[in-house]
Amino acid sequence: MVTGTCFAETGNDVTCVDIDAGKVSKLKNAEITIYEPGLEKLFLRNLKEDRLHFTTDLAEGVKDAAIIFLALPTPPGEDGSADLKYILGVADALGKILTDYKVVVDKSTVPVGTAEKVHEAIAKNYKGEFDVVSNPEFLREGVAVEDFMKPDRVVIGTTSERARKLMSDLYGPFVRQGNPVIFMDERSAELTKYAANSFLAAKISFMNEIARLCEKLGADVDMIRRGIGSDDRIGKRFLFPGIGYGGSCFPKDVQALVRSAKEANYDFEILNAVMKVNEDQKLHLIPGIKKYFNNNLEGKRFALWGLAFKPNTDDIREAPALYMIDALIAGGATVCAFDPEGMQNVKNLIGDKIAYAANQYDALKDADALIIATEWNEFRTPDFLKIVTRLKNKVIFDGRNLFELAAIRELGFHYESVGRAIVN
Ligand SMILES: NC(=O)c1ccc[n+]([C@@H]2O[C@H](COP(=O)([O-])OP(=O)(O)OC[C@H]3O[C@@H](n4cnc5c(N)ncnc54)[C@H](O)[C@@H]3O)[C@@H](O)[C@H]2O)c1
Repeated sequence: MVTGTCFAETGNDVTCVDIDAGKVSKLKNAEITIYEPGLEKLFLRNLKEDRLHFTTDLAEGVKDAAIIFLALPTPPGEDGSADLKYILGVADALGKILTDYKVVVDKSTVPVGTAEKVHEAIAKNYKGEFDVVSNPEFLREGVAVEDFMKPDRVVIGTTSERARKLMSDLYGPFVRQGNPVIFMDERSAELTKYAANSFLAAKISFMNEIARLCEKLGADVDMIRRGIGSDDRIGKRFLFPGIGYGGSCFPKDVQALVRSAKEANYDFEILNAVMKVNEDQKLHLIPGIKKYFNNNLEGKRFALWGLAFKPNTDDIREAPALYMIDALIAGGATVCAFDPEGMQNVKNLIGDKIAYAANQYDALKDADALIIATEWNEFRTPDFLKIVTRLKNKVIFDGRNLFELAAIRELGFHYESVGRAIVN
């Protein structure tokens, strides 16, 4: 959606093909199917300008295309490696359809060697000229449109001059401020994407371990973050501890890189630790919650603010909130949740396993404590009076360190966060 819409926004004629007929029908009727800031406006504008089209018919979609982007799912297979059945399935179908030169672009996050596999799958049936290019996507959900329109860099893996020229022209309008388009071979481009996500995941797990140590040693992770973030070599971003990374990318991409490494007889030791730390971190608040309630959650009710894996998205894939819900319910508790955008997706996934509130304050009614799982802006400066009057106890477990300890102490809450002192 983001790739197609943003390419249309720069004047290209784009046809998005999807096998989900329900999705295509909604999109054709000008109904957007994901939440992403700024996307709807662009989607409607380009639909109106007749530059953006939707179909379930692959042949119709690629008929007049110069460039075909594969932005298909690459979920983890049973062994953790990226499952290429969607990509190779479409590549196979393309081989039966193509009649003239096209550039086929792997936009999905795919393991090293996939461009070659896609090439083979197409070439099985199509004997004409075509190129397969690796063009990994680095956008962040929640700011996807902004990232796509103004990318820090564009990575293009190709050794074909013809494809290079087409890709260069396509991305020209997106890098007018001078951000680099980095050309490389296909394999390096494929690995660049996994290296980027794995590095960022490692940064998060590293800070989460520092936070755990802070709790044990009586240090404050906020101070450590500021202390190290001002070093240019480390950087200020991605140093916030919390209850782990989730989403559709980091968990599967780190796992897939570890798996690729294993297939190449390499044991990627750091990434094994990154995954283990993250697995445990999702439940980091649970022992404190149990301890507070004397190891008995039976009949307790929790208000949960945040379901999406991060703010400004309705994506709940691998969201830490879901792991917490399981742990709380396994302990005999009930949960009433609120999320500005993610509730429908959670309802579709777990139905009435939890209750859903119409707003953040309704979720608090008769709850024994508030748990915060996602750092949505509207949770950052809440009306504490409303919290106090609705919650049964003045107790907050904050997985995203939203509040200043001094302020929360003043308000008289019992407050537990990540890597900081417990306020009693
Ligand atoms: N979501 C992100 O932030 C992000 C960022 C960078 C890279 N990526 C990568 O992009 C790829 C897609 O991710 P996503 O989050 O957009 O996935 P998604 O699951 O939201 O969307 C994929 C779409 O492909 C459709 N599809 C499946 N099989 C198809 C087929 N045979 N023909 C046509 N359509 C088909 C699905 O119906 C679905 O609508 C993944 O490899 C992911 O790792 C995602």
